Amino acid sequence: MTLEAIAVTKEFPGGVRAVENVTVRLRPGQIVGLVGESGSGKTTLARMLALFHAPTRGEIRLNGEPVRKAREYHRHVQLIFQDPFSSLNSLRTVGYTVGRALRIHRGLRGRKEVEAAAIELLQQVNLSADFLTKLPHELSGGQRQRVVIARALAVGSSVLLADEPISMLDVSIRLDILNLLADLRDRQGLAILYITHDIASARYLCDEISVMYGGQIIESGPADEVIRNPRHPYTQLLIDCAPDPSRTIQDLEVEYGEPPSLTNAPPGCRFQPRCPHATSICAQQAPPRAHLGNGQWADCWLYA
Ligand SMILES: Nc1ncnc2c1ncn2[C@@H]1O[C@H](COP(=O)(O)OP(=O)(O)OP(=O)(O)O)[C@@H](O)[C@H]1O
Ligand SMILES: [Mg+2]
Repeated sequence: MTLEAIAVTKEFPGGVRAVENVTVRLRPGQIVGLVGESGSGKTTLARMLALFHAPTRGEIRLNGEPVRKAREYHRHVQLIFQDPFSSLNSLRTVGYTVGRALRIHRGLRGRKEVEAAAIELLQQVNLSADFLTKLPHELSGGQRQRVVIARALAVGSSVLLADEPISMLDVSIRLDILNLLADLRDRQGLAILYITHDIASARYLCDEISVMYGGQIIESGPADEVIRNPRHPYTQLLIDCAPDPSRTIQDLEVEYGEPPSLTNAPPGCRFQPRCPHATSICAQQAPPRAHLGNGQWADCWLYA
């Protein structure tokens, strides 16, 4: 299934424009990374893609069709949260949780049949059959995230929206979860949105990277191109900060001032007040989109 957001804007009460005129496309067998600092609108975009927020403007399309029925839709598209504990029922065993999805969405009936299918799904996320009888509090964070992913597979989803799926996990098991997502892409052709602050993990996992700033995607392209040859000054700063763990995206605020107001967005480029390359036009007019070859583009006056 191909999932698209076409020119979506989300305005919250009070005039907060958390996402403005964003287009993204998730294709089968592809992982798109959505990178950006806190408050840039990543979760809001994911929630629109998951139909938890209605776009103020624009449209969500599944296989080219505007989406209307939420019930049918959530069979295909599942959101995976940062905290897997919050999305599991703490009183239910792993076997019950995965089995229930198989009964409802795959129409499986007999106890034996459901159990066999549940074991197979657990194997796909590298958990043994022993986990069937376990409760969420008996699992590690990484194991819980695997169960959440197994449940999405049980539902039969072909699109996963993973909102910082590893950021609450121990560093030692983060890579395992990333490898699992890569595996599901490669072997089952899932379309995956991977939301992260961590540009290094996006490079490792993603086919494409889109960079968000102040509610807009300001650069996008093949992951290697965006990392090796970032063209938007914000992406360049993000990557400059990345190799040094003592510097974070938040440090940019100290050096380059506050992130933009989402209520009173200034005219021109949102990054202009923090941009080392800004010229007078940047404050006056929104930057044009520059197509830079190989599918890479950036919204920046530098390339006009
Ligand atoms: N329900 C809401 N009502 C009003 N404002 C909201 C709501 N949800 C989010 N916002 C605002 O929208 C902006 C974008 O928030 P969002 O959660 O999408 O950012 P994010 O990129 O996911 O940040 P983080 O990296 O911290 O998770 C923020 O300024 C936030 O305060
Ligand atoms: Mg978020």
